Amino acid sequence: MFIIHPNLKLCYPSAPTQLQSSFSPPFTTPILHSRIKITSSSSSSSDNHQENLQTKSSSSAGRIKRLVLTQEGRTKLNISPDRDFYAYPRFVTHVDDGFISTLTDLYRERLRPGWEVLDLMSSWVSHLPKEVEFKRVVGHGLNPQELAKNPRLDYFFVKDLNQDQELEMENCSFDAALCTVSVQYLQQPEKVFAEVFRVLKPGGVFILSFSNRLFYEKAVSAWREGTGYSRVQLVVQYFQCVEGFTQPEIIRKFGGGGGGGGGGQADQKLPFSIGWIMRLLGSLSTSDPFYAVVAYKNFKPIYE
Ligand SMILES: C[S@@+](CC[C@H](N)C(=O)[O-])C[C@H]1O[C@@H](n2cnc3c(N)ncnc32)[C@H](O)[C@@H]1O
Repeated sequence: MFIIHPNLKLCYPSAPTQLQSSFSPPFTTPILHSRIKITSSSSSSSDNHQENLQTKSSSSAGRIKRLVLTQEGRTKLNISPDRDFYAYPRFVTHVDDGFISTLTDLYRERLRPGWEVLDLMSSWVSHLPKEVEFKRVVGHGLNPQELAKNPRLDYFFVKDLNQDQELEMENCSFDAALCTVSVQYLQQPEKVFAEVFRVLKPGGVFILSFSNRLFYEKAVSAWREGTGYSRVQLVVQYFQCVEGFTQPEIIRKFGGGGGGGGGGQADQKLPFSIGWIMRLLGSLSTSDPFYAVVAYKNFKPIYE
């Protein structure tokens, strides 16, 4: 794993003091000395998921109570290394304006100024509200050129989470973790969610969002073969398999149009008739459906 500033200046491990002075809290000291390692890819990690329910940082990662995916459920049609697939930058947006506007509203509602935010599986665009200032936004993804262009990232690192799920950061170092339209590519979601749990502060939030678009050949089979409903349930299970996350909230919004609604309606709170009509309208709509699953580490804080 290596860390690069958006201006593409590499933070070399040989200059730990420089690094420490610029971002000491989220990263563990040993990483400062070994970060330049670039993980190589192979297809083997998807085969050894039964070996151990704990992540590498087993003493502190969230405890995995059970595995959600079968071995078959983790498979991809395209088994070439993910790093190769993302080797060239794609300066595109993966979802439409309505989806992005809904997501930004959700972030506006759930995130607070001054927070430390981890944006997993990120790219060149940020969906964070422009007017909100955070203490630090750390990005992660597979393509350094995309990440270097992302205007909201203070730092970023490149790591294939299907090869190694360990996030080389201190326990309890982020107020929020985000993952947008990417969870379908994770072959070891249980371990990744356990690591996110570990790096979140108590009361920290993990916001997962997705639509129905995907790089089909790179999505795991459990996702490819699912429906919108079953994909939501899959993400709910990813949360539930890690001890300590609060009951996941499901947020759905169909029909696009962008903006409004504080990040979409929590569907389970709607009277049946309205929810049914919204789903019907959604099924007729050509805009990208919005799904988010949100849970907190240990408890959901109340902000005045
Ligand atoms: C559809 S893009 C979404 C990018 C960004 N979250 C957004 O909203 O525009 C999927 C992202 O997942 C990341 N990704 C895919 N497979 C990955 C893997 N095995 N490990 C880490 N990141 C991966 C890629 O870097 C890519 O940027």
